[in-house]
Amino acid sequence: MQKVLESGKLTAGPFVEQFEKELAHYCSYPHAVAVSSGTAALHVIFHALGIGPGDQVIVPDFTFIATANAARYVGANNVFVDVDPDFFTMDPHALEAAITSQTKAIVPVSLYGQAYDVDEISKIAKEHDLLVISDNAQSIGAKWKSNANLGDAAQIQSFYPTKNMTTGEGGAILTDSSDLAEKCRLWRNIGQRKPYDYACAGYNYRLPAVNCAMGSAQLQKLPKFTEARRKNARILNDLLSSVPQIQTPTEREHAFHVFNQYTVKAENRDALWEHLKKKEIGANVYYPHPLHSLATFNANAQTPITEKLCQTVLSLPVHPSVTEAQIQEIAEAVKSFYR
Ligand SMILES: Cc1ncc(COP(=O)(O)O)c(C=O)c1O
Repeated sequence: MQKVLESGKLTAGPFVEQFEKELAHYCSYPHAVAVSSGTAALHVIFHALGIGPGDQVIVPDFTFIATANAARYVGANNVFVDVDPDFFTMDPHALEAAITSQTKAIVPVSLYGQAYDVDEISKIAKEHDLLVISDNAQSIGAKWKSNANLGDAAQIQSFYPTKNMTTGEGGAILTDSSDLAEKCRLWRNIGQRKPYDYACAGYNYRLPAVNCAMGSAQLQKLPKFTEARRKNARILNDLLSSVPQIQTPTEREHAFHVFNQYTVKAENRDALWEHLKKKEIGANVYYPHPLHSLATFNANAQTPITEKLCQTVLSLPVHPSVTEAQIQEIAEAVKSFYR
C-alpha cells in the first residue's frame, strides 16, 4: 500500500497490471480485467459481448440482484429460471425449457461458493449457440473437475468485503479471449484506445491501484482462507448431521466448494434465525425473495424450488476468523433450538 502511495501511480499502471496477472493465474484464465465492482464487471461484459435491446438473458431466480441488473442496463430482458433444490444453482432442465429464438446468453451463478453444473449448462449452451457468462462473484477459486476456468465466454468476480477475498470494493472479468479482454478494457476506461481516440461510450469503472495492491496481498492469503472455510464447513456438517430438522450443504460431484456461505435448509427457519440472533450468532438469509417477485422486476416465472428455498435457507458463519470453539457454539445453539 505504502509502495503505491510513494509511486504516485494511483490508478492504471503497474499495480493494476500485477494484480490482473496474479488473478488470471489464480483463476486459470489467460486474461483478467480489474474493475470497480462485480456489478461493473457484469455491465462491462454484457457490452463487450454485444448483448442489447431485444435479447433475452436467462438467469437463476435465486441469486443476488446484481446478476439480473446487467441485462436491464443494456436494454435486454431477463428470463428467470428455477434452481436445483440441493445445490441451489441453475437447473439445466429449467434452462433448456426457457430458451427461445431471442435468447442470447445464460448467466449461471456459482452460488454460495459452489460451481453450477458446468457440464450440463455448457452442453445446452453449445447446442443452442448461446453465450455463457459465469457469475462467480461468490466463488473465487471454486472449481469444476479441478479447474477454476469454467470454459465459459467469461467469468465475473466481486471483491466486496463479504467475499472470500476483498479489495474493499472491486471486481473483475476473466476470459480466454484476448479480443474480449481488450473490449472489456475499453468499456472499463471511457472507451479510450489512446488519448482522444474513443472506440465506444465506455464508463469509468477503473479499480484504483491501492485496491489492486490490496487484492494482490489478499490473493496470497486466499488458499489459507479457503481451507479454513472448508474446514469449518466440514466440522459443522459433522456436528449438525444428527439434527433431522437441518439439511447441511453438500459438495456436488466434480465441484470444489469454497464456502463463501455455509447454507443449510432448516425447518422453522425464521424462529431458528431469531434464536441465533439472540445468541449473537451472525446467521443470515440469502435470499428471502425470488428475484422475479421483487417490485423492481415484477416479472412472471414459475420457480417453486426457489420459492421454497427463500423460506428455508439459512447461512451460518464459517469465515476464516471463526474459531473451532465458536463452531461448537453455533452447532450447540442450533441443537438447543430444536430440543
Ligand atoms: C452473485 C453475485 N453477483 C454479483 C454481485 C455484485 O458484486 P458487487 O457487490 O461487487 O457489485 C454479487 C455481490 O454481492 C453477487 O453475490
